[in-house]
Amino acid sequence: MRLVEVALGERSYPIYIGQNIWHEIPRHFAERVKPGKSLLVSDETVFPLYGSRMVEGLQKAGFAVSSVVVPAGEGSKTLARADQLYSAAIAAGLERRDLIVALGGGVVGDLAGFVAATYLRGVTFAQVPTTLLAQVDSSVGGKTAVNHSLGKNLIGAFYQPKLVWVELETLSSLSQREYLAGAAEVIKYGVILSEALLNLLTARWQDFLAREPELLTAVVGDCCELKAAVVAADEREAGLRAILNFGHTLGHALEAATAYGHYLHGEAVLAGMVMAVKLALGKGILQREAAATLLEMFGRVGLVSPPATLLAVDVLAALKHDKKREEGRSVFILPEAVGRVGVFADLDAEAVQQVLGCYLSGGSARG
Ligand SMILES: NC(=O)c1ccc[n+]([C@@H]2O[C@H](COP(=O)([O-])OP(=O)(O)OC[C@H]3O[C@@H](n4cnc5c(N)ncnc54)[C@H](O)[C@@H]3O)[C@@H](O)[C@H]2O)c1
Ligand SMILES: [Zn+2]
Repeated sequence: MRLVEVALGERSYPIYIGQNIWHEIPRHFAERVKPGKSLLVSDETVFPLYGSRMVEGLQKAGFAVSSVVVPAGEGSKTLARADQLYSAAIAAGLERRDLIVALGGGVVGDLAGFVAATYLRGVTFAQVPTTLLAQVDSSVGGKTAVNHSLGKNLIGAFYQPKLVWVELETLSSLSQREYLAGAAEVIKYGVILSEALLNLLTARWQDFLAREPELLTAVVGDCCELKAAVVAADEREAGLRAILNFGHTLGHALEAATAYGHYLHGEAVLAGMVMAVKLALGKGILQREAAATLLEMFGRVGLVSPPATLLAVDVLAALKHDKKREEGRSVFILPEAVGRVGVFADLDAEAVQQVLGCYLSGGSARG
């Protein structure tokens, strides 16, 4: 089992990562959280697969467990669903020191985390992420949110869990499409912060695709460590944390312009990363050889084609609504070398249009 510490002073917490570590839940949960009442939140896909093992672990740790199961998918990240969870928490008699546990992907983590942050002004929270994306990204860093009809993640809070429990065995049931979408975020960490991680993935790509447990422990552990270091330096996204948005400026615009119906998040981010590399190359920020290395890596995951009807103007319009714009300009995180990025707010619109046009018109490997 690998242990990664997220260093945030008195809000510090451990991330435990391993394959088949269910039996260790009782000891570690009881160590971090005083046993009492707990509310387990999961979705209709994950709960039947892993709910009973989670309930058993919590009970052995000394918790009384109530469960709420929400429909799978982004549609559950709403205030209405949060309200259902508040009712369940009240019905279960949850008090300030009691525990809410999220068992599922980023949707369940964001929703349960938001409820944990706000119910009784904050109760103890634990994350048990079950998608690759949630394990390397959404469960680390303390961002929680639900969506508003006018936009994604508009209502939320920074709220750190008491622990994160990454059972890699859960990845065995994840679809290949979801797995590869998570892989895009894994590669993102390599591009922005760690050439060593990219080298490891390149050397053992077949093992990574085969979800080989020891490799996954190393890779997921490295990603958590990299994100934890960024979050520890910049918990509330005042500066450094922005580098985690590499590939996301254009990625989010693609998602929004397709009404969140065409791409999985990681698929849109992958396309965004490809365009960011081409922008960096065009601007002379990145050497040709480094760009080729990165594009080769992205190619392994396989770029998803845009819908045939998607127009550049629609993506550019979505770009204008980006939450993270500064003084009316989109901020781009661009690679300067393999494992290093910089923040750029002064890109000319033509360069952006050009890489976008290239992606929208180009044939690609997957999709
Ligand atoms: N808080 C953050 O910092 C942060 C970061 C990135 C993304 N997010 C959020 O995360 C969400 C996306 O997360 P996601 O990609 O995990 O989506 P998700 O939670 O919808 O999970 C994807 C699908 O996989 C299923 N699933 C989950 N675990 C499974 C397993 N082990 N086996 C089989 N099926 C399984 C789910 O039921 C769902 O249908 C978005 O809402 C996004 O906004 C949050
Ligand atoms: Zn992302």
